[in-house]
Amino acid sequence: MATPLFNFVFTFLTLSNLVLLSQSQVTRAPFKSNPNGLVLPVFKDSATGLHIANVTKRTPQQSVPLLIDLNGRFVWLNCDKNYLSSTYFAPFCHSTQCSRVGAHSCNKCFSTTPRPGCHNNTCAVTTTNPLTSQTAISEVSQDSLSVQSITQFGSNAGPLVTLRYFLFACSPSSLLQGPFPKNVQGVAGFGHDSVSLPIQLASHFGFPRQFALCLPSSSQKNGAIFLGTSGLNGTQTGNLTYTPIIIGSQGEYFIPVRSIRVNNKPVPLNRSSLTSTRTRNFGGAMISTTAPYTALERNIFTAFTQFFANQFSSVSRVTPISPFELCFNSNNLSSTNVPNIDFVMQNKNVTWTIVGTNSVVEARPGVSCLAFVDGGQNPKAPIVIGGHQLEDNFVQFDLVTSRLGLSSSLLSHNTSCSTFNFTSTSFVKEME
Ligand SMILES: *[C@@H]1O[C@H](CO)[C@@H](O)[C@H](O)[C@H]1NC(C)=O
Ligand SMILES: *[C@@H]1O[C@H](CO)[C@@H](O)[C@H](O)[C@H]1NC(C)=O
Ligand SMILES: *[C@@H]1O[C@H](CO)[C@@H](O)[C@H](O)[C@H]1NC(C)=O
Ligand SMILES: *[C@@H]1O[C@H](CO)[C@@H](O)[C@H](O)[C@H]1NC(C)=O
Ligand SMILES: *[C@@H]1O[C@H](CO)[C@@H](O)[C@H](O)[C@H]1NC(C)=O
Ligand SMILES: *[C@@H]1O[C@H](CO)[C@@H](O)[C@H](O)[C@H]1NC(C)=O
Ligand SMILES: *[C@@H]1O[C@H](CO)[C@@H](O)[C@H](O)[C@H]1NC(C)=O
Ligand SMILES: *[C@@H]1O[C@H](CO)[C@@H](O)[C@H](O)[C@H]1NC(C)=O
Ligand SMILES: *[C@@H]1O[C@H](CO)[C@@H](O)[C@H](O)[C@H]1NC(C)=O
Repeated sequence: MATPLFNFVFTFLTLSNLVLLSQSQVTRAPFKSNPNGLVLPVFKDSATGLHIANVTKRTPQQSVPLLIDLNGRFVWLNCDKNYLSSTYFAPFCHSTQCSRVGAHSCNKCFSTTPRPGCHNNTCAVTTTNPLTSQTAISEVSQDSLSVQSITQFGSNAGPLVTLRYFLFACSPSSLLQGPFPKNVQGVAGFGHDSVSLPIQLASHFGFPRQFALCLPSSSQKNGAIFLGTSGLNGTQTGNLTYTPIIIGSQGEYFIPVRSIRVNNKPVPLNRSSLTSTRTRNFGGAMISTTAPYTALERNIFTAFTQFFANQFSSVSRVTPISPFELCFNSNNLSSTNVPNIDFVMQNKNVTWTIVGTNSVVEARPGVSCLAFVDGGQNPKAPIVIGGHQLEDNFVQFDLVTSRLGLSSSLLSHNTSCSTFNFTSTSFVKEME
């Protein structure tokens, strides 16, 4: 992990943080009252099945809904429409902030009146829509970002804390085309990058570089993303299964999945099929929050679907509903009869179990389908784990030790991702 480049970036980051910290003394409480952790409420969009986090930005403060992109490098949002903020600032071309974002070219704005996202002599970065892969040139920007803290007891949200100079990109509204949840104004990148949302916050507030996703399974209840401290304890999550995180070339998160079991029986797969040419050196699965369902490379998908059907032959199949290929009458499924799916990781004792609530989805009233899709012949990874399989699981990314902690379904511990109490308690006033 400790490549020279990584060390360079890390050292550089540390230095630029010192600058940021001294700038922000004016607007923030002293260092000793920094929060141990932060928490973002998460919502599920019922139309797309994708997950959204609201962050508080700008002056005066405004709640901004952003699509969660686990593998995105940074935060980008639409600044074309009504971006009003007295604290907006676009750093000058070739400044320290621009190199932090990796923006080496200068922006030019063809409009006569400058506005957020459109200035001359600022810096430009390429932003990518994770749903369509469309790209746009965007202005690197700074503005305030506020997130709820977690109280020292970890069970409630505390007051909002503010990072005055949060770095993000201001993108044209055209980049928000595609199957986005309604009202979403941009994308929150959680990737392995010095300016991603969790790493920028951890660097600034000085808590460990770790975060945990707890995505809600219903649009009626919210889930949570914990940054730094977790808001759920071991009693609530059960023991986690740990596996190494491997970072991809664009800061994406991969885990080694060596085989798949259904009903405790191995799915017959060629070992080589789980290591694609793109991920040959580490193999396995990429984790994604911009894919609603886990996608399997075509040969794996075919073998897996057939094997699952054989293991579940007691229940008759119904006409499948696209994009799924294996569907059942919902009345025939119960919480106990759907076979468990295990992803076997670095060795055969380390498994992540996917139970019925995560392996099956009701595609239409009365019709439930195996919630896995055909990823085609040349996907980004042999397995791309999607949002439905992560819901109501506690998924901890520890970037300090480079390991991923996975609970299985919290529902089997009689809890869920919707138990965290977002009502702020007032006894931590000093942090305001
Ligand atoms: C998220 O932000 C949007 C836009 O400001 C707002 O309409 C919505 O109510 C917010 N959701 C929550 C739960 O705060
Ligand atoms: C940027 O500079 C160009 C000339 O190079 C000018 O036409 C344009 O109005 C300027 N834009 C702003 C926002 O100042
Ligand atoms: C874990 O959290 C639950 C719910 O907040 C609480 O009842 C329990 O005492 C906590 N357990 C530990 C070991 O902290
Ligand atoms: C967690 O692991 C400990 C030690 O191995 C064990 O005693 C405990 O029963 C486990 N808890 C659960 C919920 O599996
Ligand atoms: C495994 O590899 C053999 C030979 O390359 C091929 O014929 C077979 O279809 C493969 N099976 C699967 C499940 O990919
Ligand atoms: C499946 O459900 C249908 C309708 O409720 C019922 O008629 C049928 O017997 C069930 N089949 C099985 C295998 O449970
Ligand atoms: C797996 O677990 C078994 C039984 O607990 C143990 O004997 C074996 O050494 C373990 N294998 C590995 C690779 O940890
Ligand atoms: C969960 O709740 C059900 C019903 O309330 C109960 O039967 C079961 O024992 C509980 N399971 C656990 C692990 O607490
Ligand atoms: C959430 O916390 C607040 C403040 O401590 C408390 O008044 C409220 O009852 C809690 N809500 C739940 C559902 O536990």
